[in-house]
Amino acid sequence: TGELKVVLAYSGGLDTSVAIKVLQDRGYDVVTLAVDVGQRNDLKSIGERARALDVAAHHYVDARQEFAEGYVFRAIKANALYQGKYPLSSALSRPLIASKLIEVARKEGAEAVAHGCTGKGNDQIRFEVTIRALAPDLEVIAPIRDRRWTRDKALEYAKKYGVPIPERAKYSVDENLWGRSVECGPLEYPEQEPPPDAFEWTVDPEKAPDRAEYVTMSFEKGVPVAIGSERLSGIELISMLNENAGRHGIGRIDHVEDRIIGFKSREVYECPAALCLLEAHRDLEKLVLTRHELEFKRFVDEKWAELVYVGLWVDPLRDALEAFIDETQEKVEGEVKLKLYKGSISVVSRRSPRSLYDLGLARYDELSTFDESLSKGFVGLWGLPSTLARRKQG
Ligand code: ARG
Repeated sequence: TGELKVVLAYSGGLDTSVAIKVLQDRGYDVVTLAVDVGQRNDLKSIGERARALDVAAHHYVDARQEFAEGYVFRAIKANALYQGKYPLSSALSRPLIASKLIEVARKEGAEAVAHGCTGKGNDQIRFEVTIRALAPDLEVIAPIRDRRWTRDKALEYAKKYGVPIPERAKYSVDENLWGRSVECGPLEYPEQEPPPDAFEWTVDPEKAPDRAEYVTMSFEKGVPVAIGSERLSGIELISMLNENAGRHGIGRIDHVEDRIIGFKSREVYECPAALCLLEAHRDLEKLVLTRHELEFKRFVDEKWAELVYVGLWVDPLRDALEAFIDETQEKVEGEVKLKLYKGSISVVSRRSPRSLYDLGLARYDELSTFDESLSKGFVGLWGLPSTLARRKQG
């Protein structure tokens, strides 16, 4: 055994398995850490795989609840969709995994931590910014980035060192409770439809059931607390929705994304629960927040999502944005009913004890309480600035 110890964030996939060998080659005692954020991999076999590669120790941390309630719930309150499309599933997990790396490094007395990211992605930035901010004394090693390997080169190295190659090596996959990201191979051609085998959490909408399914979810203080009449933990609720909505072909996302480092990338995701919860949450906000709150919150939400995407979870701006968001979420309480059908989500019903909707004002029959005589003067004043401009300036 060497003298230097490094804790590696280990997923059991190709890159991080290869990383173990590279670090050992460099003389490190490698300790692996698998953080459970709700990925569907068998975490037991990940430990076995690590041990088969002669690691000094392997740690497993169940961070699912922390991820659901400390990360995903904040994203729901912020209606977080990067570039209007991506629910930040991978992005959200990185600062959490980074903080677990630090904890294990302290326990193990390690002087370095490592991750298996390449130099082309966002994840390297998210890991390293978080680690530098929270534990500036730890060295951060990125063995895959250092070697500047292509995927084929990594596969070759894996074969040479007897690193078992996971069956799904065709794609680079990252999973957690909030979604599944798929990259590489045929997906690199944005003009081509993703092949069926890119998807695992969702059925093809064409093969989804012919009968719609209704799901009612309840929110309190901006976060989901129940499905139907069943109160559920964040983990249970999100897992259940992933199953239900995935069965109806809901959750597939295919878009061109601007990466932090500047280039555009075709990204494919499966995020059934995320799309349902974000749709429901946004709808409920419209019922309980004033038009002015809604208009301003859109900007705050967008900034929050961008900050998390670009790896700045640790920036105090996030806390400041969340202070505003949390103030608004006090009122976000009630029930939203979704109809799931062949890949589509429709909100069909919403109700809230804090609703601002006033039937008397809105209705068109003789029971209306709206004083239409007020409108006459209002219309005249409302258009005044524009009318003046037309009259005076042509
Ligand atoms: N483009 C996404 C993001 O930046 C997905 C990253 C997925 N990571 C991976 N190792 N496959 O968050």
